Amino acid sequence: MRIAVVGTGYVGLVTGTCFAETGNTVTCVDIDKAKVEKLQGGTITIYEPGLDHLFLRNLKENRLHFTTSLAEGIKGAQIIFLALPTPPGEDGSADLSYVLGVSKELGKILDAYAVIVDKSTVPVGTADKVRAAIAANAKVEFDVVSNPEFLREGVAVDDFMKPDRVVIGSSSERANALMQQLYAPFVRQGNPIIYMDERSAELTKYAANAFLATKITFMNEIARMCERLDADVDMVRKGIGGDERIGKRFLFPGIGYGGSCFPKDVQALSRSADEVGYEFKILRSVMDVNQEQKTYLVPKVKRFFGGSLRGKKIALWGLSFKPNTDDIREAPALYIIDALLAEGAVVTAFDPEAMPGVKRMVGDKITFAENQYDALEGAEALVIATEWGAFRTPDFDLMETKLAQKVIFDGRNVFEGPLMASLGYYYESIGRRPVKP
Ligand code: UDX
Repeated sequence: MRIAVVGTGYVGLVTGTCFAETGNTVTCVDIDKAKVEKLQGGTITIYEPGLDHLFLRNLKENRLHFTTSLAEGIKGAQIIFLALPTPPGEDGSADLSYVLGVSKELGKILDAYAVIVDKSTVPVGTADKVRAAIAANAKVEFDVVSNPEFLREGVAVDDFMKPDRVVIGSSSERANALMQQLYAPFVRQGNPIIYMDERSAELTKYAANAFLATKITFMNEIARMCERLDADVDMVRKGIGGDERIGKRFLFPGIGYGGSCFPKDVQALSRSADEVGYEFKILRSVMDVNQEQKTYLVPKVKRFFGGSLRGKKIALWGLSFKPNTDDIREAPALYIIDALLAEGAVVTAFDPEAMPGVKRMVGDKITFAENQYDALEGAEALVIATEWGAFRTPDFDLMETKLAQKVIFDGRNVFEGPLMASLGYYYESIGRRPVKP
C-alpha cells in the first residue's frame, strides 16, 4: 500500500518506519526542512531503541521517503496518517491548529479517495472537526478514522510491531477494510483489531492513559500507607498483582509518573469532563497526588540531615522520566533538582541520555558528571530518580570509594533492603522499611 504520514515527531517516525517494514511504501511529510534533510540523509532525529536499524534499512530499500511538500507526500496515498503535535494550550486543552490546518490543506489537494487517520491524541469530537475541515474544500470522497497509538517510549517499536490491540474508530466500511489490510501483519498472533465509532476510539486513548496513571498513583498512596503502618509495598504489590483482575503490571510505586502522555492526558480528560459539566473527581486526586509524589523524597532527605540541606552535596542518578529514553518532559528529577536547590543543596547529576536536555534547562545551577561514579565524588547522599539498568547493578566497591557517606534515597526501589543492609548503607526507598546501619 502507499501510505503518507504527516508529522515526523516521535509517533510519526515510529509509525512510518514500522509500516515501511511491513512492505508498504511510506512518505513522511514535515514542514521542518532541516529535519527532513537529516532524515533523507539517513540521520534519525529521535532516540528510540531498535528504530534506527529499521529506519536505515527501509530508507535503503526505498520504501521510506521524506518530503516537506504535503502535495508530493500524499500523492497516490491510500491512507494518510496525521501524527501532528497537539500541545496543551494555555487553558490545558489540546491545541488542534496543526491538525486542522493540515486537514484544510488536504481538502484542497486530495485528488482521489483516501482515508485520513488521526494518530495524535486528540479530544473527543476531533474526527468530526477534521472531517469538516477537509470537506470545506474536498472535490473527492474521503473517510476520517481515529486510530490512537499506545506506544511506550523505549519499547515503541515492539509495541507497534506486536500491539496488544489495535483500535479503529470509523463509521465507514470502506475505510475499515483498508485499515484491516494495513494492520493484518501486526495482529497475526491473534491480538484483536477493535472496531468502534470515532468518538469512542478518541476516548479510549484518554481512558487507557488515565487508568494507568490512576493505577500507579493508587500504588503510590498504598506505599505511603505502608510506610506509616510498617508494611512492605513490594509484598502488597505481589499479593494483589496475583489477582488477574488487578494484574501484575504498572503496580510499581515510585516518585510519580512523568513523560509526554500521562500528565497531559490526565489533565486533558479532566478538563474535558469540566467542559461537559462533569467533575471527574478521581482524576483531580491523581494529579494532586502525583505532583506531591515527584518531590516525595526531598523531605526524607531533609529529615536525614536534621532539617537543613544547606551546602549538602547530593548526587542524583537519573534525569529522564523513565529509563531508555532521553525524554525529560514532566520528569520527577527536574522537580527534585528544583526542590533540592531551593533548600540550598549542591547537586551533581548523571544520566546516560538525558543530560544535554537538562543542561539546556538548568544551565550551571547543577554539575553534570561524566559517569555514574564520578557523580558520587564527595556526595553525602545519593538520590535515585530513574531506574536505568546500569544503576541496578553498580560496582558497590567503587561507590564506596567515592561517596562521603553511605546514604541512598531511592525513588524507584532499584535495590533490595537486605543487600543494602549487608553493605552497611542507610537506605530509604518508597513504601518499604528503611534500612539503617
Ligand atoms: C505511556 C503509555 O504507556 C502509552 O501506552 C501511551 O501511548 C503513552 O504514554 P510512556 O509515557 O512512554 O507511555 O511511559 P510508560 O512506560 O507507560 O511510563 C509512564 C510513567 O509511569 C513513567 O514515568 C514511569 O516511571 C511511571 N510508572 C510506570 C510507574 O511509576 N510505575 C509503574 O508501575 C509503571
